[in-house]
Amino acid sequence: MCGIIGYTGGSQALPVLIQGIRLLSYRGYDSAGVSIWRDGSLTVRKDQGRIEDLAPRWDPKELAGTAGIGHTRWATHGVPNIPNAHPQFDAARRVAVVHNGIIENDLALRAQLEADGVTFASDTDTEVFAYLFERAFDGDPVPAALELLKTCHGAFALAIQHVDLPDTLIAVRRGSPLLVGLGVRENLIASDMRPLVGRADAVIELGEDQVAIVTPDSVRVFGADGREVEVSTRPIDHSERDIGKDGYPHFMLKEIHEQPDRIYELLASRVDADRGVVRLDDIGISDERWRAFERVDLIACGTAFHACLYGAYVLEGVAGIPARALMAHEYGERAPRLDENVLVIAVSQSGETMDTKVALQIAVDGGAHTLGVLNVRESVIGRMADGVLDIHAGPEIAVASTKVYTQMLCALLLLALRGGQARGADGALLAELVPAFKKLPDDVRTVLARFDQAREAARDVRRASDMLFLGRGVDAGTALEGALKMKEISYIHAEGYPAGEMKHGPIALVSREVPTVAVATRGPTRGRMIGNVREVRARDGEIILVATDGDQDAPKLADLVLWVPDVHPLVAPVVNVVPLQLLAYETARLRGCDVDQPRNLAKTVTVQ
Ligand code: G6P
Repeated sequence: MCGIIGYTGGSQALPVLIQGIRLLSYRGYDSAGVSIWRDGSLTVRKDQGRIEDLAPRWDPKELAGTAGIGHTRWATHGVPNIPNAHPQFDAARRVAVVHNGIIENDLALRAQLEADGVTFASDTDTEVFAYLFERAFDGDPVPAALELLKTCHGAFALAIQHVDLPDTLIAVRRGSPLLVGLGVRENLIASDMRPLVGRADAVIELGEDQVAIVTPDSVRVFGADGREVEVSTRPIDHSERDIGKDGYPHFMLKEIHEQPDRIYELLASRVDADRGVVRLDDIGISDERWRAFERVDLIACGTAFHACLYGAYVLEGVAGIPARALMAHEYGERAPRLDENVLVIAVSQSGETMDTKVALQIAVDGGAHTLGVLNVRESVIGRMADGVLDIHAGPEIAVASTKVYTQMLCALLLLALRGGQARGADGALLAELVPAFKKLPDDVRTVLARFDQAREAARDVRRASDMLFLGRGVDAGTALEGALKMKEISYIHAEGYPAGEMKHGPIALVSREVPTVAVATRGPTRGRMIGNVREVRARDGEIILVATDGDQDAPKLADLVLWVPDVHPLVAPVVNVVPLQLLAYETARLRGCDVDQPRNLAKTVTVQ
């Protein structure tokens, strides 16, 4: 979604802004722009397309200056074109604004401004901010910024420049996150940490309804009442390494390969194998509470929702609590019955997804106990929930989620084991899983080392226009996730189904031209999966089978086999999804697609 960067200091602003835009572009965007203060005016440049193509067109002489703001836009109000790109400004170009979020009352505000003689140059809600700010500005930016908070409803993060304030940037935050990065005689504004790493030493996280006035030497923060507030800074701890590709051609491939290490770190830090317990003391759920829960609702979108399908399976099967996974945007469309004995778990990489946030608010309002299973603890959802379980996947840049998915599966299994412990499930399952956990990172490594089998399958499916993905039980979500990865990045139309559903409709699609990927590894569902595979074969369908090493039937049943090591059936989804990630990656690469930034998608969707 939209990204914000601002710079004021002793260096030229343009290269810093371009680099910031580049680092924010993982969020998904369709256009970008900058505004720079120079010789008593604001110079604005905006363009459509990828930053690699735009940056060379932005002339450093024309855009010389040491204070500026920049933006990556993902269209919500108005089509992606140059007038709608940010920065937006007023007709006299005295104010430039970049914006992440939505003004909910923009139609009413636009109508008022139009009645006052304003002619809007774009379809964006953002343009309203520029006019409102200029009208309220009397030389002091604070009251003008507060006026925006007063007049505009919705969630928004803003960076603003005014022509009368040469080296000053104004930051305003309501709902959407916004950071101020503190450097040496230079300061920055950014919508997330990435553009600040390596440039700033410390960061201020703006609070709800706060305004920051940022110059090269000072940052002053004001509350909604106009009073200056004391702010706390924290050092930046993300290493530079986390934001590079480490020699991989794409972030997605790098992130797929990070899975063994991330899984190891998470499991090692949470499982006390000697005492036979899972330690989750920091998530704020006592044994007593665990025992009181009568239901668990898992809410999420996209890949995180597929992780919830697994989460519901293990919370019910292992912890013994009735559990269901619901798409977050559907949560409010029904009337969930909530009280303190319902545990609502919001699962989210970013912790910013608007649909998940809105669903979580319903849970909070209904008095449920709430937990965020998140990759960004200090996020909107992280702040709303009663507790947070940090999945510790590290920054994920590729839009298509991979390491976050397997990390969510591990975190949800840990949660289910912890719940089981508290509710008196016998310790035998954990004892059985401890050795499985120990070898899980190596099992994933083994699949990664077998990239060639995914490459062969990719050469086979690259020309398909439709595909089916099937799995059952614990691997039903694996099938859905495999299909999602394929469609997201290769643009092949792929459907994921719990395999039992096949004969109730999708089997009509089976033909030689529609490859079916079936997950049929060792475990309680294997026999029934093989039955489904035979049904596809009988209709001349091509089969790519995910099968366990040593399965002698697999080569007879399938056109191609994606072999995986033998693992405990409960952790099998962590291993089984990996060949599907590699298959989607390689297929997209062979088809010449933009693997890391697929069309129309955004990493973080902050609109409903
Ligand atoms: C977007 C992304 C998906 C992601 C989903 C939920 O649609 O493209 O990859 O799974 O949002 O995001 P979250 O940050 O809540 O996990």
